[in-house]
This record gives sequence, C-alpha cells and structure tokens, in this order.
Amino acid sequence: MPEFVLTNDILEQLVDTNDEWIVKRTGIRERRIAKGMHTWELGLRAAERALEDAGLTADALDMIIVTTCSPDFFSPIEASVIQDKLGAKCAAMDMNTCCSGFVYASDVADSFIKCGKAKTVMVISAETLSRVTDYTDRGTCVLLGDGAGAAIYTATEETDKGILSSFLSSDGSGAEYLYMEALPVEQEPLSAERFCDPKARFLKMAGAPVVRFTAWAVPKAIDEALHRAGLTAAEIDWVVPHQANLRILDVIAKKYNLPKEKIYVNLDRFGNTSSASIPLALAEMRQNGLLHEGQTLVCTGFGGGLTYGAFVIRL
Ligand code: UT7
Repeated sequence: MPEFVLTNDILEQLVDTNDEWIVKRTGIRERRIAKGMHTWELGLRAAERALEDAGLTADALDMIIVTTCSPDFFSPIEASVIQDKLGAKCAAMDMNTCCSGFVYASDVADSFIKCGKAKTVMVISAETLSRVTDYTDRGTCVLLGDGAGAAIYTATEETDKGILSSFLSSDGSGAEYLYMEALPVEQEPLSAERFCDPKARFLKMAGAPVVRFTAWAVPKAIDEALHRAGLTAAEIDWVVPHQANLRILDVIAKKYNLPKEKIYVNLDRFGNTSSASIPLALAEMRQNGLLHEGQTLVCTGFGGGLTYGAFVIRL
C-alpha cells in the first residue's frame, strides 16, 4: 500500500460530502494514494514481497500476469516492465477485466498450470485509480484508492489443493454504468482539446445500477463456483470479496447465512482498489495469521464490463 492516507475529512474539503454519509453508505473511512508513483512501481513492490514470502526467486516464474485498469502505458505493458525489473525471464501479459481482474487472471494462471504449459505463475494486481478519479465527483471519489497485491500459483500433485473451481462471466449490456475512455472517439480526429482534457478519461459510474447488478451477479458467481466445487457455503472458511461497498458485502453474508466475520473486510482502510482489492485482502489475512493450510476460500470479483466471477481455492 502506498503511504499517503486520504481520509474522509480531506474529501470533505474537496466535494460536498461528509464522513457520516460515506461511512453509512459505503463503510469506507480512508484510502491510500500513490503520490508520484507509477502502477508498475506498486506492482513491483507487491511482486518482490510475494517472491520473498514464497521463498522463491524470479527465475522460478514461467509467467507474469498483471491485472490493471489504470496502466501507465499502452506499450510497454506493465507485466513486461515488472518482469524486467524483477530479472525474470518468462512470459508476461497484462489483463484488464476491471475489478474482476484478479479472479479472471487467477483462472488463467490455474489453466496454464493445469494444462502443463506453466509450473509457476505470478498474478500481480496493481491499480493507481487516483489517476483516473474525478475529485469533483462525489459519487466516485469517495470510493476509490490505490494499491497492489500479488499471488504466486505453483503446480502440485495434490488434487485437493489450489483452485478447485471457477466461474467467469460478463454482462456487457451494463457497460455504460461504469466506464473509462482510453482514447476518445472523435468526429474531428485532430481535436487536440479533447485529447488534452484529463476529465475525458476519468472513471465514470452510475452507482445505483452497479449495486443492482452486484445484487444478482455476485450470488450467481458464488453459487456457480461452489456448485462446480461440489461444496456448500457452510463448508467455506472465508469469503474474500472485491472490496467495493460494505453494503454489498453485507448482502453476501445475509444471502449465504454466513457470520459477518467470515467475509473479509478491509475497505474501511483502503477503499475500492479495483482488481488489487482481493490480493490485498489475502496478503493482509496471511500477515495476520488468518489463513491456514486446509482452509477453503471463495474469492469473488465484480465491476466494469460489467464483469463478474468467483473461484474456490483450498490452501
Ligand atoms: O468496484 C466496481 C463496482 N462498484 C461498485 O460496486 C460501487 C457500487 N455503487 C455504490 O457503492 C453506491 O452506489 C454509491 C456509494 C456510489 C452511492 O450510494 P447510493 O446509496 O447508491 O447513492 P445514490 O447514488 O443513489 O445517491 C443518493 C444521494 C444522491 O442525492 P439526491 O439525488 O438523493 O439528493 C446523491 O447525489 O446521495 C448523494 N450522494 C452523496 N452525498 C454525499 C452521492 N454521493 C455522495 C457523497 N456524499 N459522496
């Protein structure tokens, strides 16, 4: 996590909002901002820590996947920059499925490993959403933060370990509710004003329809992933959801009749960091000794696209 803490008090000075509204409607109290940092720098920090934690060196990696919807460049890709800085000699690719990025990329990593094309794949989810946030729009700026997390998947002979099942899907009919333009499409292609207008590329969201989408998409993703793993919600030790809004996480607890303590929450301190939120949560859980061998987790992501998905993993 970057060091700078953007509190609700600071946001009160930027837009017409207040701590009470933000906490009640979202659960968020503060977020981190990567001042003067590139997305790849955050991703590199996470990658180095993941390697250290796994007791591996970069030459063990067969593939690096970076998920981000806030990249530094169209070319080079973030994954190649990080591959070079790590000194890894392996395949590298970026993926963007917005807030579902970590779930999608984990499934890709698992598929490469299961079909024998790779033994060790690192997924890095890195976001600097502050660079695409409109700090005059109170409907989005109170939600978003920066951060990066990384996970390393390795081949194992143990069939009851690792990713047991996954489900990925998309409902592009809701694309308009959450979007960011990369390059504006213009009637007059040489309109320099438009290209120079940073607001054109800010993230825009219609919050309420996105909440309505999550109300059916998140349970559907969890149901499908559980069904494919042959498990019920009662057999799950932790649900690790994308950290979008506390109200959405409360809906998951209610729907599956799970105690709230089983749904990991850190959005109060980090806000919504898009694809980085799940690996950030996993890293924090691991640091705090909450994850143990044999536990079964469901990770679920949802967001721009509108994409959604979930996977079941046994540690
Ligand atoms: O990460 C990808 C997925 N993203 C999400 O899942 C985010 C989904 N959306 C949300 O979390 C919520 O929709 C928001 C937190 C963004 C908004 O909450 P809401 O309960 O859906 O509020 P709303 O958009 O229906 O707005 C209710 C009122 C409006 O005022 P009026 O029209 O009733 O007078 C808004 O202008 O709240 C107002 N409002 C605010 N007031 C104070 C919107 N943002 C703020 C704010 N402070 N920051």
